[in-house]
Amino acid sequence: MRLRTYFIETRGCPMNVHDSERLEGQLIASGLRPAADAGSADLVLLNTCAVRERPVQKIHGRIDQLARLPRPPAVAICGCVAQQEADALLERSASVVLVLGPRKVGRLAGLLHRVEQGERLVVTGFDETPGGDPHLGHHATPYRGMVTVTEGCDEFCTYCVVPYTRGREASRPVNAIAAEVGHLVAGGVSEILLLGQTINSYRCPQTGVGFAALLDRLASAGPHIPRLRFLTSHPRHFDDLLIETIAAHPHLSRYLHLPVQAGSDAVLSRMKRRYTRAEYLELIERIRQAVPEANLSTDVIVGFPGETEADFLQTLDLLETVRFGQVFAFAFSPRPRTPAARYADAVPEPVKKERLHRLFEVTDRIERELNETLVGTVQEVLIEGDSRRSGAEWQGRGADNRVVNFAKVGDDRPGDIVPVRITAAAAHSLHGDRIPAEPYHRFVPRTLPVLDRAMPQTKRGEPGPREPRP
Ligand code: SAM
Ligand code: SF4
Ligand code: F3S
Repeated sequence: MRLRTYFIETRGCPMNVHDSERLEGQLIASGLRPAADAGSADLVLLNTCAVRERPVQKIHGRIDQLARLPRPPAVAICGCVAQQEADALLERSASVVLVLGPRKVGRLAGLLHRVEQGERLVVTGFDETPGGDPHLGHHATPYRGMVTVTEGCDEFCTYCVVPYTRGREASRPVNAIAAEVGHLVAGGVSEILLLGQTINSYRCPQTGVGFAALLDRLASAGPHIPRLRFLTSHPRHFDDLLIETIAAHPHLSRYLHLPVQAGSDAVLSRMKRRYTRAEYLELIERIRQAVPEANLSTDVIVGFPGETEADFLQTLDLLETVRFGQVFAFAFSPRPRTPAARYADAVPEPVKKERLHRLFEVTDRIERELNETLVGTVQEVLIEGDSRRSGAEWQGRGADNRVVNFAKVGDDRPGDIVPVRITAAAAHSLHGDRIPAEPYHRFVPRTLPVLDRAMPQTKRGEPGPREPRP
């Protein structure tokens, strides 16, 4: 079998989006070309998410669908389902030729030849291979550079599959991160997105430097980064030094994602989040005092086992108290190997659905009210592309990550950061007019030589996931 063309389908979080960039970079460097669609590709790469049951079912359906195409492509399964189901995916369909775990992304180029020879391979696990992943400079979004700060997770929240699919937390050396960021900025990107499941528990394996110091170094160093964002922070690692660092650098993102998951101490304790409702609210207070313009967003799980109506009302009350700019809410989905999948007192599906519905009524109202306070203000909008409604409008994001749509004028392009006066607000977006003034930043892509990308090193040199910490 000769693989000439590829097609990639990506589900899941920004870590998966970045892994797809790394996978695509290796395919291009190996001489493959992008196909117009899955049906015309020699190799279809499915980069998968296992965080809830529904996306996993969809992947199974997609594998079966691809196998029924008139000319079935070879299929590579990457991402969290690959790590979770491993050999079972080879058994599911003869089309599946490669199963590649998320910590093995850098191995793709080296495996293609064996796949072409007819081998069917399962490459999963968490052992590190330093230096095994050349960063090939491919960006799915040309103006955005994504940079891994930590991989994996050590938190072992009782509902979550991530520590089992991505392995123990591993931090990259501060110098490797700074070099990659500097390279991307010299290449002209308008935005850097730093990535980690609990990014603020970062600790440089060489110098011991923490996340606040890393951010300070990146934000202080030249060349200037037009927009610097990071995902995702865990509330229990969000310390005063980090708050001070964000406050001290006005061009650091004013969008802070701080998943709370629940508003009841009983549920938080069974989730093993290791903070209380009061501690979370006190953290929000400290952030708001130091960075009043911050746009806070959060994740919530409804219908966690044992969640009573009173527990749920405490979650609604917390949402009313904090007034987040954006809330991502999910119905609890039991996941393999996680303790919560074995907890008694499952909440019935219709109750989960009804609670989710009530939650969105509250959050939609709050988000609309917050957006309305921005009417009349001028926002620095990074243009992302055409708006969903019309090719005559751009869609972009303000410094606080809010979606802003506005009519196209002049020669603005995606990647430019431009001034927009807000004229109208809805629950999930703003509308505005481009102010006739010079852009804050013009996106001018430059081609630079390939940079070697060192793999992360585990904090304590441990290989894979072990039992959760007490
Ligand atoms: N690391 C981040 C954190 O600590 O919150 C988020 C990681 S997770 C990939 C993204 C979100 O999915 C979580 O914040 C949680 O709200 C949701 N999630 C995780 N496991 C879930 C489950 N079993 N059922 C429903 N939602 C879940
Ligand atoms: Fe999952 Fe919790 Fe880790 Fe987030 S912190 S990835 S929710 S285990
Ligand atoms: Fe999904 Fe894995 Fe990300 S489970 S959310 S792709 S870490």
